[in-house]
Amino acid sequence: MTRPEPSGRSGLTASGAAGRAAARELRNRYTAGDLGVFTPDEAGRFVSSADGDPHRDAVLAWELLYRLEPELYDRLVSAERLHPGVVGWLPAGVDRIAEVGAGTGRLTLELIERGRDIVAVEPALPLRRILRRKLAAADHGDRARVVPGFFDELPLPDGFAGLVVACSAFTPASGHGGEAGLAEMERVCAPGGCVAIVWPNHVDWLAARGYRYVSFPGPMAVEFGTENEAVELAEIFFPKAAGEVRRRGSRRVPFEVLGINPPRDLAFKVLAG
Ligand SMILES: C[S@@+](CC[C@H](N)C(=O)[O-])C[C@H]1O[C@@H](n2cnc3c(N)ncnc32)[C@H](O)[C@@H]1O
Repeated sequence: MTRPEPSGRSGLTASGAAGRAAARELRNRYTAGDLGVFTPDEAGRFVSSADGDPHRDAVLAWELLYRLEPELYDRLVSAERLHPGVVGWLPAGVDRIAEVGAGTGRLTLELIERGRDIVAVEPALPLRRILRRKLAAADHGDRARVVPGFFDELPLPDGFAGLVVACSAFTPASGHGGEAGLAEMERVCAPGGCVAIVWPNHVDWLAARGYRYVSFPGPMAVEFGTENEAVELAEIFFPKAAGEVRRRGSRRVPFEVLGINPPRDLAFKVLAG
């Protein structure tokens, strides 16, 4: 995850910009009053280590987004496509693949081509629903199972999968992976299998634990559906860049304009056979 760490539900602020109200930015969309949406297991991981105020805690705001406005979240990630080199690098012809923090399936739908059985672990119920809907629409409902779970408590047996992967989800923080989460991913990985962290945000932390790094070159842009969509989603998720996105007037926005590094890299470890 490379963005700053993942109410007026109308999503619009009173202050207008260029003739229309600007969309409410992520950190101002939710309040401490929204924290009741978490299950006890989620609250234990996401709230207890935070100060409980989503205005100050961006990670908490992202977790609330997944549960309170999952379709809005999906509009963003659908525009942020992974570098094809990343998907192409992942092992193919794998018997079983486990993905952790699968979200609405940005990577999951690509994994279908690379394994026989896929298990997508995702804690947020609203995201699991969207992912199931997408898998069914793509006619992959029978090949992929979508299950609840957390990095540090995976509902899978030892040595289950030849590829265990997370995309834009794992961090060294205990609520979002940490030492226990990495150990769990390695536990469910089969001997000789691969654990991969796609779009890693703490490469040095992973390198210190034996993970190697690969990055794929070339220009990359976020591909919003329309110019208006680009402006609205920038106002919500990249408020500092919203003026520039509006000025450029294009639905394609280079990642550097938004101030985030592109999803072009991964860290991996191949376990001893
Ligand atoms: C930025 S989203 C990325 C989703 C998806 N992998 C993608 O690339 O589109 C981060 C995901 O990590 C999940 N997540 C957060 N904490 C988690 C945890 N402790 N265990 C497993 N998944 C977690 C969130 O629910 C969310 O789906």
